[in-house]
Amino acid sequence: MNAHIAVLPGDGIGPEVTAAAVAVLRGVAGQAFAFTEHAIGGCAIDATGDPLPAATVEACRAADAVLLGAVGGPKWSDPNAPVRPEQGLLALRATLGVYANLRPLRVHPRLAALSPLKAEHLHGVDLVFVRELTGGAYFGRKTREGDVAVDECRYSVAEVERVVRRACELARARRGRLTSVDKANVLETSRLWRATTERIARDYPDVTLEHQLVDSMAMLLLTRPSAYDVIVTENLFGDILTDEAAALAGSLGVSPSASLGDGRRGLYEPIHGSAPDIAGRGVANPIGAILSAALLLRHSLGLDAEAAAVEAAVDAVLDEAELTADLGGHATTQQVTDAVLDRLAARR
Ligand code: NAI
Ligand code: MG
Repeated sequence: MNAHIAVLPGDGIGPEVTAAAVAVLRGVAGQAFAFTEHAIGGCAIDATGDPLPAATVEACRAADAVLLGAVGGPKWSDPNAPVRPEQGLLALRATLGVYANLRPLRVHPRLAALSPLKAEHLHGVDLVFVRELTGGAYFGRKTREGDVAVDECRYSVAEVERVVRRACELARARRGRLTSVDKANVLETSRLWRATTERIARDYPDVTLEHQLVDSMAMLLLTRPSAYDVIVTENLFGDILTDEAAALAGSLGVSPSASLGDGRRGLYEPIHGSAPDIAGRGVANPIGAILSAALLLRHSLGLDAEAAAVEAAVDAVLDEAELTADLGGHATTQQVTDAVLDRLAARR
């Protein structure tokens, strides 16, 4: 199989961590991938004036999968600037139609010590958030009249159906438990969300559905995170809850994400930003990007065994290797990447 992967390094540490992920993809046994590199974010603004140049969109549309680093940084952060880096990312998600954002959370025992939660609460945590990514308040009409501002939160049945189906499919392939998060006691969009979820879940008799209100979910994530398998929710609630979940992981640097639409093509990126404070020094943690590459292998290319091999190699590195500074170590990005590659090669 000769899959085409569009690589969008972006800004700050983006190029450093995507290089690591590409090296690991190249190291995956027996696969031939074609990589092409394209501009997005601040570097694209500098080069073309546009945070998402047409050539980048075209390349991503033609690719089997897109691997992204991060966008943004102080150079482009003036709120009054005519264009901003994150507009490029939002526009890319929208044009690719990636409405389901997957964020797995597992807490490796060595990182449990870095988490704000006690290690015993983190034992056995293995969950995936499925956040709706292209609807809700972030995409609704925004108006401002004098002292009054309005952000419209809007969802259609079709928008809820497709993301809930993705979540049901995922739950079916995992431990068969789905938690849907809403605020159905107050919000009309949440009542539509809940009714639609109930209806779709009937097509998945092997999946057990429960509902949680978002405020209570925020608490349950801290008190019993190991009780959850797949958690599906709308855009704004998902934005907040996934950051909360990321904090449990012990570092921003280790968490991957996948954004999926109807087909197999997806957008894969670590959850962290461009980390301008450490950019260019070769010390960024590449694990979030490398685990994003594993998700790419699984969800866009159907290479489940290869994805599992990358995850096992990362686990082995977390077990015993020197780690980067965010995890209390002294290793460079390259050293951690080489350690992952060594473990990958060892299992061949
Ligand atoms: P950030 O995630 O870039 O950094 C937060 C802190 O975590 C920093 O101290 C950073 O050094 C550290 N960190 C992040 N990733 C790391 C890694 N892989 N290894 C080691 N340490 C790591 O978030 P921040 O500082 O709020 O934002 C910086 C820039 O990134 C801003 O311009 C922001 O808009 C952008 N950003 C972009 C995102 C994206 O492209 N998806 C997501 C979040 C922020
Ligand atoms: Mg966020």
